[in-house]
Amino acid sequence: MESEKKIIFSGMQPTGMPHLGNYLGALKNWVALQDDYRCVYCIVDMHSLTVRQDPLVLRKRSRELLQLYIAMGLDPEKVIIYFQSHVSGHAELAWILNCFTYMGELGRMTQFKEKSQKNADNINAGLFTYPVLMAADILLYNADLVPIGEDQRQHMELCRDIAIRFNNIYGDVFTIPEPYFPKIGARIMGLAEPEKKMSKSDGANENNIVYLLDRPESIIKKFKSAVTDSGHEVKYSPDKPGVSNLLTIYSAAAGVDIKQAESAFEGKGYGVFKQAVGEAVIEFIKPIQSRFDDLNRDKAYVDAIIRANDERANAMAGRMLRRVQKKVGYPAV
Ligand code: TRP
Repeated sequence: MESEKKIIFSGMQPTGMPHLGNYLGALKNWVALQDDYRCVYCIVDMHSLTVRQDPLVLRKRSRELLQLYIAMGLDPEKVIIYFQSHVSGHAELAWILNCFTYMGELGRMTQFKEKSQKNADNINAGLFTYPVLMAADILLYNADLVPIGEDQRQHMELCRDIAIRFNNIYGDVFTIPEPYFPKIGARIMGLAEPEKKMSKSDGANENNIVYLLDRPESIIKKFKSAVTDSGHEVKYSPDKPGVSNLLTIYSAAAGVDIKQAESAFEGKGYGVFKQAVGEAVIEFIKPIQSRFDDLNRDKAYVDAIIRANDERANAMAGRMLRRVQKKVGYPAV
């Protein structure tokens, strides 16, 4: 029965679009979760406001991210996928939870410390209470499991502390969520810096990252400029991080194992190899891009998906919010 499935909640910021590392490392596996769990995927545009955004870009990216998730295979009738700002319960619960969170706890968050250093001219209160809004996201939906990366572990722990604190006062209101580290897929490194994971934060060099929405010419260009080494053998080896990374990407994209990938390029030069990896990636993500383009052309269809999902999210969130409001003593109507 639907209601017996565990609930997975995940939030993603619309500020950086998913890249090949995100996809092969995690997102690809997410799609498989939608049959076994009740999945709620929230595009957390409200969190993005903690850093200055260009409104036009934010609006465009948010919608693109939703389309991209659907293009990757998330079924918008099976999962709930929606914008945080469309469900006012997030802000309403966040306020209540703010009153059950201590300044000291928020001050200890390493991400707050890092972000305040990075944005020294805009250390706003939203940046400080960011983890409370995140806790509200999760608790509103009775989430059992929250897939996160290492960087969100501390926020997740705080969410549990807040929920436990609240439950200790008011009874069993919130489900205490667990962090969930899904099966890790391939570990993809940067093309320009193959010693480090492909990651948005080192976005300085655009050739380092292949985005899922990059067009073929740009993908080929990025692979052609990928760092290899001074040798000429296409071989997987710890002293060849660049070549090894390209082999990993090729094997994931072409659906072969590393040995098969190595033998496919035996005696071939790096130039041929890099071109072939680029082409394999283009083929691999072509179905995603073409579904994305279809969605991009069909505004009415996407609007209908957004409306339907908003409604489902609001219904779920509304039930919890009303329960919490009653517990804390908001007057009844
Ligand atoms: N803070 C998360 C990140 O930057 C995004 C996020 C917001 C989130 N709300 C969430 C993740 C709820 C999981 C659950 O990655």
